Amino acid sequence: MATDETLNSRRLAFDILRNITEKKETFDVALISGMANYPAMEERDRAFARHLITTCLRHLPFLDGLIDGAMDAPLEDRNLGTRNWLRLGITQILYMNVENHAAVHTTVELISNSPTKGIRGKKGLANAILRRFAKNSEQLLEKSQSDATANIAPWLRERWLKQYGIEELKLVSEALLIEPPLDLTVKDKTQIDAIVANLNGQKLGNYTCRLPKAGEVTGLKGFNEGQWWVQDFAASLPVQLMGDVKGKNIADLCAAPGGKTMQLASAGANVTAVDVSKKRLLRLEENLKRTNLSAKIIASNILKWHPEQLFDGILLDAPCTATGTMRRRPDVPINKTVDDVLKLSGVQKNLLEHSFKQLKTNGTLIYCTCSLEQEEGEDVIKNFLENTPSAKRIPFTANDIGPLSSEIKTEKGDIRTLPSILGDIGGMDGFFISRLTKQDI
Ligand SMILES: C[S@@+](CC[C@H](N)C(=O)[O-])C[C@H]1O[C@@H](n2cnc3c(N)ncnc32)[C@H](O)[C@@H]1O
Repeated sequence: MATDETLNSRRLAFDILRNITEKKETFDVALISGMANYPAMEERDRAFARHLITTCLRHLPFLDGLIDGAMDAPLEDRNLGTRNWLRLGITQILYMNVENHAAVHTTVELISNSPTKGIRGKKGLANAILRRFAKNSEQLLEKSQSDATANIAPWLRERWLKQYGIEELKLVSEALLIEPPLDLTVKDKTQIDAIVANLNGQKLGNYTCRLPKAGEVTGLKGFNEGQWWVQDFAASLPVQLMGDVKGKNIADLCAAPGGKTMQLASAGANVTAVDVSKKRLLRLEENLKRTNLSAKIIASNILKWHPEQLFDGILLDAPCTATGTMRRRPDVPINKTVDDVLKLSGVQKNLLEHSFKQLKTNGTLIYCTCSLEQEEGEDVIKNFLENTPSAKRIPFTANDIGPLSSEIKTEKGDIRTLPSILGDIGGMDGFFISRLTKQDI
């Protein structure tokens, strides 16, 4: 008999998976609400559940291929609960330090005790399938390891193959299987060496301290003192690429929760931070307070925002499908679709058009998204430049970018980062960044 702790940690992983796949919750929301339902759970069991759910989500398309291949008749959509238990069971068999028989036994026990009749009814089927997987686990693991692209959702695999080619697709697929590091952006670059030494981290560029593993950040040295904030290395590039912003009036549009607002403010800019979400702006305010930085905060839809003065610089970090952040948000391939890419591409075009109107002549506008999709990056800029005679791209140069230039600069002079870049030291999020200016016409 499995212990209550063993069963509960698997139940927690199941609840999170159910809320992502059935209620379409994001990974972060499902994780927080799931954990809250088990207040007495030991940290060790929470860590197990977290590891189980992230490993399962990262391999989901491969796992589904195995499940579908093992069925005489396809498992219908209404049996998503059973599929979720099978996904978690196989994850333990193939990728985790759990004895095969224990993985089978606990999964079948949990299915038998499920409050849902339809799930309980599949106990025999689940038992037979999981036993077969357990028996062939070595071959299945070998198969899984031979082709990382099998872990990418088909709709994304097809798009990335077309956009990036097979070699890059393979590298990105491999990078997405790895637990990402934790990157901290430091407030004061003169302190970077001391912070890196204090936290036993690794220095990336002038502003990022990289720690090998994500974890509870509030207990780390320097958090309470506001010396740094969590921000992926790639996400720190757009502000760095704005150039010297000291004393300039900069609008940070789509600003919350404020990673880039803090970077701009700490570089000496007079920042106006605008976001439509009041809830997310509360987090921005907390962040500014903790880091002892300031910005003028405006809660507004950018499309309805008409400032009295134009700005020297604008940063537009537009809402996007976030396919570049899948290492930390493994729900994205499940809950986003091609329709979202197309819909958001339209939103981004409108936001860029409106934002550009608030820029002074000769000012700088940086447009960025954390999406790997061309429609949300390259195509937005192409369309905008074609339709806006006063807009001009200022291509990034090797001087602006530094050592990574040859890897991340596109032919047109924009930036395209991928999770596979710096892969040997933990990779980075996928971002698209373009720099524009306004000229008199
Ligand atoms: C990618 S996030 C921004 C991240 C932020 N720049 C940072 O570095 O922490 C996109 C933001 O756009 C905001 N947003 C979406 N549509 C908007 C709109 N029409 N007007 C203003 N903000 C919007 C969302 O509320 C969300 O906070």
